[in-house]
Amino acid sequence: MCGIIGYLGKKNAADEVFCGLQRLEYRGYDSAGAAVLSADGKISVVKKQGRVDNLKPYLKDIAGATGIGHTRWATHGKPSDANAHPHVAGGIALVHNGIIENYAELKSALEACGETFLSETDSEVIAKLLSKNFKGDLICALAETVKVLKGSYALMAICEGNNSIAVAKYRSSVILGYGENEYFCASDEPALAGKCKEICVLDDGDIACITPDGIEIYNGNLQRIIREKKPNTGAEQSLDLGGYPHYMLKELHEIPVAVENTAKAFEGVSAKLKSALNGVDRIILVGCGTAYHAGLAGKRYFEQFARVPAECDTAGEFRYKNPVITERTAVFAVSQSGETADTVEAARLARGLGAKVIAVTNVLNSALTRIADVTVPVSAGPEICVAATKSYIGQITALYLCAVGFAKNGSNGNCAFADGLEAMPKLCKKTLAQVNTYSLANMCALSSGVYFLGRDIDYAVALEGSLKLKEVSYIHSEGYPAGELKHGTLALIDENAVAVALIFDETLAGKTVCAVEQVLSRGGKAAVITNVESVKKALSGRALVLETCACGKFLSPLVSAIAVQKLAYETAVILGRDPDKPRNLAKSVTVE
Ligand code: M6R
Repeated sequence: MCGIIGYLGKKNAADEVFCGLQRLEYRGYDSAGAAVLSADGKISVVKKQGRVDNLKPYLKDIAGATGIGHTRWATHGKPSDANAHPHVAGGIALVHNGIIENYAELKSALEACGETFLSETDSEVIAKLLSKNFKGDLICALAETVKVLKGSYALMAICEGNNSIAVAKYRSSVILGYGENEYFCASDEPALAGKCKEICVLDDGDIACITPDGIEIYNGNLQRIIREKKPNTGAEQSLDLGGYPHYMLKELHEIPVAVENTAKAFEGVSAKLKSALNGVDRIILVGCGTAYHAGLAGKRYFEQFARVPAECDTAGEFRYKNPVITERTAVFAVSQSGETADTVEAARLARGLGAKVIAVTNVLNSALTRIADVTVPVSAGPEICVAATKSYIGQITALYLCAVGFAKNGSNGNCAFADGLEAMPKLCKKTLAQVNTYSLANMCALSSGVYFLGRDIDYAVALEGSLKLKEVSYIHSEGYPAGELKHGTLALIDENAVAVALIFDETLAGKTVCAVEQVLSRGGKAAVITNVESVKKALSGRALVLETCACGKFLSPLVSAIAVQKLAYETAVILGRDPDKPRNLAKSVTVE
């Protein structure tokens, strides 16, 4: 789950590769590297541990008009200069995104033939194999090499004395870009936004050869094939912080527009969705991390509005549990990037088993949308911060609308439960301006652990609040159903622990207040984020009460999520963390 980019044209390839790597950096920032082919056919490589910016001073040393680059999220081998890509073998430089599952046996076989390795990566094995298979034609060598690879790969390679880029793809995405006398290849569409007129998405098993004369695409047997080109309509992702100190804060402030645009975009797909869901009697929602948490809210919407049985699984669990699926099952695959390996594979599995697959994603033309019967857009706009904020709220908005639409078409539906979404952009704006999380952030920053509590839909958001806080602040945190705390976790509560209860359902408020009382009576610190008046009365003076504006229970996740996202952001800043690029993480997790 790294980002890879290639450029062949007339410009300075190092600059083009660097620009692409900046756009791809959300896929990993453990190291970055580039290889450029000079006019006299020599390859120069620079690679450095750490962020893409670390490469900048070295790029002036590599000149040429053809190049490849890589930004890494470490899987095999720690972040280091040696493990950074490109890997070089013979006169070939290679970048790889994916995981080679049989690399250990391939490596042993190569070592037995006398090869030595400079890195601990699975990818260097591919470079060595390529060099071994190279008999003067890079594409033939690539076709030969991929035959023995098991796992996932997007590969780009250049070779000394040959002005071309060889590309191969299996289970990791590759997009080709066609410009004016210049060509690109990249891990994803956003990396090419604004760079070229047309793009083309490679399929599994495809091999491509980019030369100054154009791009040829082949199947694994090197027979030429045609892949559809389409206009490159992606909006150029602005790397401008717009005056904000971090993307996370900027993106929090983009939430109202994300909600509004997602609702607008839904109008364009509601008829198609209606027909796809015709006859469906069971809903399954799958996703990873934050997207899974959005699915948990979606499950409640389908159950409450449409009275249809709904389940929500992490995509990684769903794939391996031999799920019960019929042709009357609809699987909603939720993913900001549309590239998360487990979610994409869960969707593929569900489709194979006969389910209707609905992609709920922020990236149109992503791998997920190519599998789905229908795509419900999350129109949150590009999200650069690794921590998902506006996309999560966009996902909840989209799932809410899907559930309301489904309920309206069904016989058991009860849309009376659903609150109007129209007012939400304004409410989100108000929440951003009003909810004051700073004191609580200071409390969390000093704590030994933070326990987010909630019931029903508040519990779904509690899980997300916990994930967000631990992800950007590195403070231990858990999300719990309020009623479960006393069944074990209460043992962790002492004067250094903080409990944060989310209370947005008046009918359940008293019960959750009891859980807060249990924390207070064990000497723990407590805070509540609520819009329920009685909670304020019950806990004021004993717990920190963060008031938010009034809204119906089912739309409250939009409000409570903004509060917990803001809390996570402020805690991270207090602790001096970089909320945009938390350690060890990447935004798009394209490996299993
Ligand atoms: O692109 P996806 O929505 O499929 O990504 C899934 C998770 O990796 C993602 O939501 C992750 O949990 C977030 N970065 C958390 O903020």
